[in-house]
Amino acid sequence: IIALICTILFGYLLGSLSFSYIIAKKIKKVDIRKHGSGNAGATNTLRVLGIGPAISVLLLDVLKGVIAVLVAAWIAPDQSGLFPALAGLAAILGHNWPIYYGFRGGKGVATTIGVLATLVFFPALWAGVIAILSIIATKYVSLGSLLFAMLTPVLAFFLHGFYDYPIMYIYLAGVVALLSVWRHRTNISRLLTGTESKIGKSNR
Ligand code: G3P
Repeated sequence: IIALICTILFGYLLGSLSFSYIIAKKIKKVDIRKHGSGNAGATNTLRVLGIGPAISVLLLDVLKGVIAVLVAAWIAPDQSGLFPALAGLAAILGHNWPIYYGFRGGKGVATTIGVLATLVFFPALWAGVIAILSIIATKYVSLGSLLFAMLTPVLAFFLHGFYDYPIMYIYLAGVVALLSVWRHRTNISRLLTGTESKIGKSNR
């Protein structure tokens, strides 16, 4: 139980490192949460700082999720997958509500990519391909993010016979999808009214 608490805590504290906040402060001396969409994430870094910083933020925020899961799997290599699942969830919660920055973070997409790609690689890969195609076609990053978050658990459920991973990871992917929908609720209403911002267009 102590090992479980430690891995969850580690995941949360690692997830709380908000790289969009850190990089925006470092290179432009601004609070990313006061610019663009106000979200502390890679998409808003693209709006506010450009493509280079955005890619760095994306990779680093993805890496948080990967590391949180791998450390948990290394500490507790049990069959149920409970530790990696909870540590991954903790990293996403840390990203969304970071302890170091007044609990105002991002929407958890990049960290979710890291977590799900580590736990359920192929379902996440196929969902990721669909998400990327949808972003290219529509220019709505939020739509792609939502597709990725919602399709991964569905694919993880149906592909469970082909690939080998604990059932726990399917549940985790489902919880993460609900969390992502909740975090994107303002994006969803903008998508429905056709007022969501597109990438490559001027800022909101
Ligand atoms: O990764 C978050 C993305 O899905 C939406 O970001 O800044 O457009 O709300 P944003």
